[in-house]
Amino acid sequence: MMRTHLCGELRPDQIDQTVTVAGWVNKRREHSQHLAFVDLRDHSGIVQCVVDNSVDVRSEYVVKITGTVTARPEGTTNDSLGTGQIEITDVTVEVLSAAEPPPFPLDDRADDVDEMVRLRHRYLDLRRERMQRNLRVRSQVNTAVRAAMIRQQFVEVETPMLMPATPEGAREFIVPSRQRPGSFYALPQSPQLYKQLLMVGGVDRYFQIARCLRDEDLRADRQYEFMQLDMEMSFVEVDDVLNAVEQTVLDAAELVTGERPDPVQRITWHDAMNTYGIDKPDLRFGMELVELTGVFASTDFKAFASAESIKGINAKGAAADWGRNKLDGLTDTAKSFGAKGMVWMKVGSDPESGDLSLDSPVAKFLSDVEQKALIDRTDAESGDLLLLIADDWLTTCEVLGELRNRLGRPPVSQGPYRYVWVVDFPLFVGVDDATGLPRPGHHPFCHPHPEDIGLLDDPEKMASDPMSVRAWAYDLVLNGWELGSGSIRIHDAELQQKVFAILGIDEVEAEARFGFFLNPFRYGAPPHGGFAYGIDRLAAILAGEENIREVIAFPKPQSGLDPMTAAPGEIDAEILRELGLRVLPQTD
Ligand code: AMO
Repeated sequence: MMRTHLCGELRPDQIDQTVTVAGWVNKRREHSQHLAFVDLRDHSGIVQCVVDNSVDVRSEYVVKITGTVTARPEGTTNDSLGTGQIEITDVTVEVLSAAEPPPFPLDDRADDVDEMVRLRHRYLDLRRERMQRNLRVRSQVNTAVRAAMIRQQFVEVETPMLMPATPEGAREFIVPSRQRPGSFYALPQSPQLYKQLLMVGGVDRYFQIARCLRDEDLRADRQYEFMQLDMEMSFVEVDDVLNAVEQTVLDAAELVTGERPDPVQRITWHDAMNTYGIDKPDLRFGMELVELTGVFASTDFKAFASAESIKGINAKGAAADWGRNKLDGLTDTAKSFGAKGMVWMKVGSDPESGDLSLDSPVAKFLSDVEQKALIDRTDAESGDLLLLIADDWLTTCEVLGELRNRLGRPPVSQGPYRYVWVVDFPLFVGVDDATGLPRPGHHPFCHPHPEDIGLLDDPEKMASDPMSVRAWAYDLVLNGWELGSGSIRIHDAELQQKVFAILGIDEVEAEARFGFFLNPFRYGAPPHGGFAYGIDRLAAILAGEENIREVIAFPKPQSGLDPMTAAPGEIDAEILRELGLRVLPQTD
């Protein structure tokens, strides 16, 4: 046996036992003329070993140590370490691999090391406690999710990685075909088309922990490659899908944290926008949007008089934190999100009467009645900062939603876990400026909400207010992150054609773009719906990480260039020739 125990599991229970542990030398400290301390590390933790000074082991040497577990002398115990009450003495040390000094320290100090250095030596970065923990959190998420799906009679099916390239596939990674030079496969952005065909194929309940690939700009919550829990169900309504998904995410959180979060709340898209100003509300904090349109119904203040919607937020006690310069910056932020301007007001109080007053460049334009009503509606107290936006309803909501997040959102590592379903998303999201046609909210196969199907036949309504048509489409949100999306799909050819027509896709185009997918529906498609969420995102939140990179073993940095493998790289001229490809000279 190479070892009898893991380093981190030794406790006073093992005192006087002879044990063998193996791992990396975390640190060596000279103790006396004859003795040295070696902290030995494996994935489970660290144990202190007392070795002879003559033993030549240094940081990151791989060693095997056999010795006796001994109580540490009084006054030398370390309560911050699980093994802090004991040490291993009377040891024999066997060096399994020598090691060069690592390019950066493999402890918390590595958090401040340049990301490219960490990623260039990711195999060393992974030795760190934080990364070991994160990979295990991720593994627990996968375990819980898979178990919950199997328990609910879902069948795990793998779908192809080589797909047809779609005409509009700007975000697809493309794979050239050797046997058919000049022809290309695309890597799947998601298994969407295949999973719907599995429903036509009678699979009934499908799931896959699926690798997806999208050639899009990388961000904290985006990688080129990522994993989805992807699922689809036949003969279901919205509630069936939500309930099935819910089991998986609650189980995952419970397995990782030991506590089952509250059942998932539900909110409609309209209420989410109206109350939180965003379709992925972070429910860990309040600061809800306050409706103020009525307060200023007959105001003389020009910026408010003509606005369709006026709302505000109250950042409790924040007035003192926001000087003029910072508020100017916040106004610029509001403008960058589409606002014409932002009104701020600091709430003060008269030291004698205690009466509240509003300190703001625009206060003088507001009547006493308006000021009083504003204070009442926002529950304002002295020291509060009020931010107001006046615009069309959607812009007002969206800008305040952004400001609310900037002012109130706790870091990812701060609990609790607040899952929320956002349901009844709009089928269309406004109108495309170039074409004047509505744009699909999720994808063109989402089933319209049955109560709103009639609106599809009302050209005037479709032209003036396309967002009023709700879809049977829903998102799952956790602490302000979009975890996933899904919908009940259209399985009826006539309804599909109607939606295509509104999107400006005629029959010829529909056949060219989606024919291989839609034609099978002619042979009897069951009503079906499904969902997919990002495993990386769920694992990151449960690990308390701000960036999904931290829960991926070998992620790409923001540039997309992998500093460890140097991918992407050039390929041999011979291979290019075989594939029928020629690389054009690069122009800037
Ligand atoms: P959607 O495109 O919304 O839906 O993706 C679902 C979830 O996948 C995750 N995700 C990503 N994670 C990391 N990096 C990325 N680049 C990335 N892109 C997406 C997110 C997202 O919420 N087929 C549909 C689902 C369906 O309708 O069933 C789909 O893929 O967490």
